[in-house]
Amino acid sequence: MTSADDRRLDPVASDDVVAAAEVLRAGGLVAFPTETVYGLGADATNEDALRKVFAAKGRPATHPLIVHLGTRPRLEDWAVDVPDAAHRVAEAFWPGPLTILLRRGERISPVATGGRDTVGLRVPAHDVALELLYRFGGPIAAPSANRFGEVSPTTAQHVLADLGSSVDLVLEGGPSVVGVESTIVDLTGEVPTVLRPGGISVADLEVVLGRPVVVWTSDDGPAAGGEVDEGGGCEGSAPGTLSSHYSPVARVVLVPADEVAGRAEELVAHGTRVGVLAPTALDGLPVAAVELEPVGDADRYAHLLYQRLRQADRLEVEVLLVVPPDATDGIGLAVLDRLRRAAAADEPATD
Ligand code: TXA
Ligand code: MG
Repeated sequence: MTSADDRRLDPVASDDVVAAAEVLRAGGLVAFPTETVYGLGADATNEDALRKVFAAKGRPATHPLIVHLGTRPRLEDWAVDVPDAAHRVAEAFWPGPLTILLRRGERISPVATGGRDTVGLRVPAHDVALELLYRFGGPIAAPSANRFGEVSPTTAQHVLADLGSSVDLVLEGGPSVVGVESTIVDLTGEVPTVLRPGGISVADLEVVLGRPVVVWTSDDGPAAGGEVDEGGGCEGSAPGTLSSHYSPVARVVLVPADEVAGRAEELVAHGTRVGVLAPTALDGLPVAAVELEPVGDADRYAHLLYQRLRQADRLEVEVLLVVPPDATDGIGLAVLDRLRRAAAADEPATD
């Protein structure tokens, strides 16, 4: 005998936005595409639904979710003490890959924000996401639709593979164009601070804000600071800096282009299955090395990064030698940040 629950079918990717909005209203979970990565959405005002998000991801309840809003939101509906700077960046970059951290308004459940009195708000630049937000008519809390600590999904198929039956419906929206998560800028303090680099550059934020912006990178996080809490933001740590974040199964090692062939030789000689990921094709690699298709310039690198990391795992690569993009800002910095976190996840000292 099977109960109704046991007979629940795995979801399939759908293009039915009306049905998806209905699922959200009923307190269910909808994975949806955004321009950055796919999100795992729940009604940000429904605490039972929010708890399901944490359970589906295997994510600690203290780790805050980003709240997604439809076009031209009134920030004061969702946040309090909203500084003028927030209106300026929202006007300049939304819809787009920017999350703005503000003081939480009381209509956002503290369950969504991991108990914090701040909330990350974002208007995604994706037609399907915006249509869903419009049909649903309320804020949608959504972390990336992957298991906690693993690689974010950039296609509906990734979501189905990662979360399977713990999500009620997966909206199909094609591969995410940007490919890495949004820039997070904290506007709750004295100095605007980027907590996670992404598609909106620090330089562009500084132009709109008319003042310098401080940047937290993974360099400041686990590598320099040792133990970092799950949600970040507990004394002295930043969100998303948990060392095991954005991590594939393969061990990621960052290597300059001219050292890859030599490192690959050594590893192959030890019987290790080696993969190589680089912006351009490299010469002199051992035959046994698995060369992933080159990722090109910084925009393409970001677009393809998570797909390639998943591919390395499918090909059972044990050590992935990665040539990072040459970048100090913008999307290249976002790629570098995610690669450093993936690499840090494998250092025993940071576990
Ligand atoms: O591009 C994105 O931002 C994607 C798409 C789906 O919108 N979302 C995403 O969410 O990356 P998530 O939950 O995987 O990562 C959000 C990060 C976490 O590291 C979390 O700690 C931080 O944002 N965050 C969210 N709200 C916060 C808050 N109130 N205070 C501090 N950190 C916060
Ligand atoms: Mg995530």
